[in-house]
Amino acid sequence: MAIRFELVHVCRQSGARLGRLHTPHGVIDTPVFMPVGTLATVKAMTPEELKALGAQIVLSNTYHLYLRPGPDIVREAGGLHRFMNWDRAILTDSGGFQVFSLSPLRKIEEEGVTFRSHLSGEKLFMSPEKAIEIQNALGADIIMAFDECAPYPAEYEYVKQSVARTTRWARRCVAAHRRAEDQALFGIVQGGVYRDLREQSARELVELDLPGYAVGGLSVGEPKAVMYEVLEYTVPLLPADKPRYLMGVGSPDALIEGVIRGIDMFDCVLPTRVARNGTVMTTEGRLVIKSARYARDFGPLDPHCNCYVCRNYTRAYIRHLIKADEILGIRLTTYHNLAFLLNLMAEIRRAIREDRLLDFRDAFYARYRMEED
Ligand code: GUN
Ligand code: ZN
Repeated sequence: MAIRFELVHVCRQSGARLGRLHTPHGVIDTPVFMPVGTLATVKAMTPEELKALGAQIVLSNTYHLYLRPGPDIVREAGGLHRFMNWDRAILTDSGGFQVFSLSPLRKIEEEGVTFRSHLSGEKLFMSPEKAIEIQNALGADIIMAFDECAPYPAEYEYVKQSVARTTRWARRCVAAHRRAEDQALFGIVQGGVYRDLREQSARELVELDLPGYAVGGLSVGEPKAVMYEVLEYTVPLLPADKPRYLMGVGSPDALIEGVIRGIDMFDCVLPTRVARNGTVMTTEGRLVIKSARYARDFGPLDPHCNCYVCRNYTRAYIRHLIKADEILGIRLTTYHNLAFLLNLMAEIRRAIREDRLLDFRDAFYARYRMEED
């Protein structure tokens, strides 16, 4: 068994779970937010900096590493951990999402997906077997089944076909997996916003007795209220003794609501991506640091944050760096945004332990200005 999930406490106020996920590269306290390192790097951050923030696991992408530098080079480097100098846990997504969202001209067939590289235009093929072979070469602690993430909105009949295919592909992933002893293969529940399809998907994947399950196909354009409703009926279908991962979610409110509905793991490019255009995440909501209103603001990015950036730099200075396209500007906003989200998750874990997560949510919302859907 590559991982072991230990359920530590269930919040008596909310039902949220506190856990510890034991992996070959250390223990992860859950609920956890996983910073995204698509190309074997969390953009602008060194591993030492990620560790200083308390990151216990990062996510990387099979699709991107397949295109560049290629799985052979990563394997020759000694695997992804050695290649990127990260000795804590790694999860790789299967490419079953990026192929659909990034590649022009893709053709989905039972055997797999033919697509064009978004870099070279070259015609390539990805299948369940190929996705697992690549992930076996990369060597992450947690790997994901190759799935089909239906768009939103999508017709019932289309989603029904894609759920059935996702199950058949998951079975092929299990059969192709060569490193079950040190890599945990997670299944991905699909089904869009259709309750009976979510139920079918969960039932068929749970039958495979995988070490963890993700909820996919959400945060793809549907209103947040719809996502919360899908989680409400989908999460209880998943085994209570295994980790549950909500893919592609990372706004503060969705993290809190996901945890309340029983989710243990999250990933999202949001904190790092918005940081690169100068958007700062704070306890009061997002702020756009380029705005003239911060030109003479000599306070920290977030007065309630005590990260390295907030202890040492001002809004006025960081605004200047970002406006001047200085590399340090992006480094500082990225560092702070990750600190903010990782700290939020630590506060969520504390609130679960103390049986007061609903009170925590209310107090958080009282300060936080929400983004539109
Ligand atoms: N990332 C965000 N959503 C998804 C999904 O549905 N499938 C996969 N493989 N990755 C995702
Ligand atoms: Zn900060």
